[in-house]
Amino acid sequence: MLVLGIETSCDETGVALYHGERGLLGHTLYTQATLHSPYGGVVPELASRDHIRRVLPLTRELMAQCGCSLDELSAIAYTQGPGLAGALLVGTAIGHGLAYALGLPALAVHHMEAHLLSPLLASPAPRFPFVALLASGGHTELVRVEGVGRYELLGETVDDAAGEAFDKTAKLLGLGYPGGPALAKLAEQGRPGRFRLPRPMRASGDLNFSFSGLKTAVLTLVRERPLEAAARADLAAEIEAAIVDVLAAKALAALDETGLTQLVVAGGVGANRSLRARLSADAPKRGGTVFYPAPELCTDNGAMIAFAAAKRLEQSSLIPQPSSLEFTVRPRWALESLASQPA
Ligand code: KG4
Ligand code: ZN
Repeated sequence: MLVLGIETSCDETGVALYHGERGLLGHTLYTQATLHSPYGGVVPELASRDHIRRVLPLTRELMAQCGCSLDELSAIAYTQGPGLAGALLVGTAIGHGLAYALGLPALAVHHMEAHLLSPLLASPAPRFPFVALLASGGHTELVRVEGVGRYELLGETVDDAAGEAFDKTAKLLGLGYPGGPALAKLAEQGRPGRFRLPRPMRASGDLNFSFSGLKTAVLTLVRERPLEAAARADLAAEIEAAIVDVLAAKALAALDETGLTQLVVAGGVGANRSLRARLSADAPKRGGTVFYPAPELCTDNGAMIAFAAAKRLEQSSLIPQPSSLEFTVRPRWALESLASQPA
């Protein structure tokens, strides 16, 4: 079984080939960061137009790199949601178009399911059941994962996502887009503690998160007085520490609450080194083990899309039918709704 995966839900165009027995054959990625950076955030229309330009050349490059041809494919997987509607439409339309032309099934993939299964691509890989901390630009969720398609939401953000908190506070510090990696880099030169920021909902007694208060606290600080370079680095370190403290506390509480021992960290914020260091130090104290995707597979990519589709195909008792040209996108799509769909 050979699956081509296409990811276009936001500002990264990713394509990949996953083989049922041989694993991930290759993946290629184009990031639109420079396209959006002058605007300080993703401009949806520019994102869609750029995906149109990139998907097919990237696919050709990938096929050549892997020495594969289109007639070897078994299915084409694409991100159907959640994400930006126009951006999703590009991958969905191209996925269905290609599948239709080749007489293959087109498989719709849930972007967050793909993130949460992506640590299974790493070695060593976790085994079901595990707790997943999904922390991306749009989502922060703790999920109990019993198997492919069997997810129970344990907690989620009541306002901003962790990645959004990184991006918005980075913007307040005058850092470019995307803010998460830029803020993490600046934080390496600073020390937490000089500024005191809140750890919202850390002791709320449940597994939910809130990050919007952090943004307001940073706004108040930067409005009070201009910060010199060392102070900016210290503030960046405190912001990162506040986000990491809350994410780590809740993720470890989720292990305690479920009695599970394996924690999987996925989504763009999962690339954060400070978060990784904290979890890897603290989880073993409670008998836990933490699993991460390779850093380049934490942020959006086609590999996780091809992989999630292949896992679903493996489990399915249904024989997928060749694609028709009817398709739709799902910009809002709750992960838990997958539980009621056949694997
Ligand atoms: O999963 P992802 O690539 O896209 C979404 O599905 O949203 O996550 C992107 C988010 C952005 O908010 C970005 O700033 C954040 O992940 N991010 C990071 C780091 N790398 C990416 N945040 C903190 N530290 C990082 N190293
Ligand atoms: Zn993502």
